[in-house]
Amino acid sequence: MEDKKDIYILAIESSCDETAAAVVKNGREVLSNVISSQIALHTLYGGVVPEIASRKHVESIDGVIKTALGEAGMKLEEMDAIGVTYGPGLVGALLVGLAEAKALAYAADKPLIGVHHIEGHICANYIQNKDFEPPYMALVVSGGHSHLVYVSDYGKYEILGHTRDDAAGEAYDKVARAIGMGYPGGPKIDAAAKIGNPNAVKFPRVFLEEDSYDFSFSGLKSAVLNYVNKQKMMGEEIVPEDIAASFQQSVVEVLVGKTIKAAKAHGVKKIALAGGVASNSALRSKMQAACEKEGFYLSVPSPILCTDNAAMIGCAAYYEYIAGVRDGLDLNANPSLRLGQR
Ligand code: KG4
Ligand code: ZN
Repeated sequence: MEDKKDIYILAIESSCDETAAAVVKNGREVLSNVISSQIALHTLYGGVVPEIASRKHVESIDGVIKTALGEAGMKLEEMDAIGVTYGPGLVGALLVGLAEAKALAYAADKPLIGVHHIEGHICANYIQNKDFEPPYMALVVSGGHSHLVYVSDYGKYEILGHTRDDAAGEAYDKVARAIGMGYPGGPKIDAAAKIGNPNAVKFPRVFLEEDSYDFSFSGLKSAVLNYVNKQKMMGEEIVPEDIAASFQQSVVEVLVGKTIKAAKAHGVKKIALAGGVASNSALRSKMQAACEKEGFYLSVPSPILCTDNAAMIGCAAYYEYIAGVRDGLDLNANPSLRLGQR
């Protein structure tokens, strides 16, 4: 019998502040994963400036794609399809990657596959753990999203809960700014929390209604800001490391508690973390401990696969490709695209 043909996907990601391209073989084998980060540029402004992000994507994207193909030792003609993030994200930023993907698909006569950014984050787990398969419970925590998603099969997602206000990463970034740690706040709080006391300040744990899988982090963020202002007004010193550790403990307890509860309720014994905040060391270790207690398997992508990258988009595009999904050249960027929507 003839061997099954290998499928090569060129993937492009430009939804926020990273211009990224990757070549992925058969969904799970990363031949190249090139990321041009704009973080240093946005740091000057304390957060992502959409207009600057779009312009920078325009400058970088050709080079990033060329490098991705070069590192994989492959040509555009050898690709089976072009995968691209078409939402959610910053519309101007998304449009740069999408226009590029369409141009390449048209010029090389390749199928175009639009990918949901969150689906990409979830699929990072398939790259990390080659045997990992649905069904499982996914916790997606990034700068823009906090979703609890039941993944019943490849490409089949049921959103059980999401944030009602700030995303987890957004809360990290805002708290970091308030305690003078700069942008992006997540990694800085993570590092500071390692030397701080998590029980120094008692911040709220917001679990919302008993049966809800939604999250809410703006109350916690406000509690931290109020605490900082009160201390300053009273002329008391603040210990940023203690605040970082106490805030982080509060976030992590809620994330772990809700994810374990959702897994039990859906009868799954596998949990996957995804998104930038999934590289948080406290979240990883607390989730691991909770999973061991329950006899669950935990999948966590390496940090480079947690934050925005194109390899995860290539993986998601592969599963769409083998399911027969193809998009037309009229595919538009959708900044508020819902998971599972096409
Ligand atoms: O997934 P991502 O790269 O971009 C979005 O799609 O949003 O996530 C970026 C977010 C930022 O808010 C950043 O502060 C957070 O992930 N982050 C972390 C850590 N590393 C990145 N948050 C907590 N701990 C970390 N180690
Ligand atoms: Zn992301």
